[in-house]
Amino acid sequence: MNLDKLKYKPVKILPNLGEITSVSPSNIALVKYWGKKPVQIPTNPSISFTLKNCHTQTSISFKKSNSFTFDFYIDGKPDTSFIPKIDSFFNRIKDFTPFLFKYQIQINTKNTFPHSSGIASSASGFSALSLAITQLEQKITDISNEDKFLKASYLSRLGSGSASRSLYGPCAIWGHHEDINNSNNEFAIPHQDIHSVFKNYQDTILIIDKGVKKVSSTDGHNLMHDHPFSKERFSQAKKNLKETISILKKGNLEKFIAVTESEALTLHAMMMTSNPYFILMKEGTLSVIEKVWEFRKSSDVPLSFTLDAGANVHLLYPEKYKQSVLNFIEMELIVYCENQQYICDEVGSGANIIKENYA
Ligand code: PMV
Repeated sequence: MNLDKLKYKPVKILPNLGEITSVSPSNIALVKYWGKKPVQIPTNPSISFTLKNCHTQTSISFKKSNSFTFDFYIDGKPDTSFIPKIDSFFNRIKDFTPFLFKYQIQINTKNTFPHSSGIASSASGFSALSLAITQLEQKITDISNEDKFLKASYLSRLGSGSASRSLYGPCAIWGHHEDINNSNNEFAIPHQDIHSVFKNYQDTILIIDKGVKKVSSTDGHNLMHDHPFSKERFSQAKKNLKETISILKKGNLEKFIAVTESEALTLHAMMMTSNPYFILMKEGTLSVIEKVWEFRKSSDVPLSFTLDAGANVHLLYPEKYKQSVLNFIEMELIVYCENQQYICDEVGSGANIIKENYA
């Protein structure tokens, strides 16, 4: 991959100060990325639905300075718990964004989804931050809008792999696949060739467990290195990606259900067969899966589930079944949700800039 596009080529002088605000959503993988090589290179390609309602809004305010510093605020309050992650992110992106290091910056961020809901904010958080940074780059370079997003995806990947996919909607592909044009390991590409049924596909996220995961995604990815089934898994993911692309185009819901549920369970099977093995699903996760299968059998609703690296369950279904699924959740699934909590989301269109000013 020729990464020349990513080089910083200033043509104007840096603004003295300013503020840029971006918004970026979370995403849910249909074909899962699980396993990576340094630095943040996926061992298999993945595809996701970009979400709409679960998003992060991030403002960076910047002021020229002789030394680089940054402060980080969540919901208006200073937060030090994310500093090490952001610090390592800044170290990784340094060579691509030297302009950033000419400033003192303040990052203000807020999520639409509740803290400690078990929904990771890393995808929306790193993609929002990255887009704000490349927006500043666009102010001082000739970078096109297309390349601004491409670079934001590249930078996001260095923060959290799956974040690279959040820039683009309705779907995004990240990771090289020999049969998919422009697919690559460095940044995600938008995937728009999807049937109308998927354009506003619903994702209702049942919060089964709000707790901090016992094994982090980073540790889980690393356990794929010596995993007895890794080779098979990586080739299965490639095959499933190709199939998913065709399913998304044709709108074949039966096949969609089969591939996405198999992907979710395979992800967790990889965890259960790692060394050391671990389980992130909870009893409620399995009960919900059973109930979804029963409901699907006894109704005409093509409801399916997927999982990320945690206990929460994402319920996926076409918009026209929203009311019957919500009734089903209220009647039968809510007992498995911590504090009866669930979040209604749907497929969305990706990240954007909502405000900028410079002096
Ligand atoms: O981006 P990470 O390191 O948080 O890993 C995400 C892994 C999964 O959510 C399980 C799958 C995926 O492709 O998003």
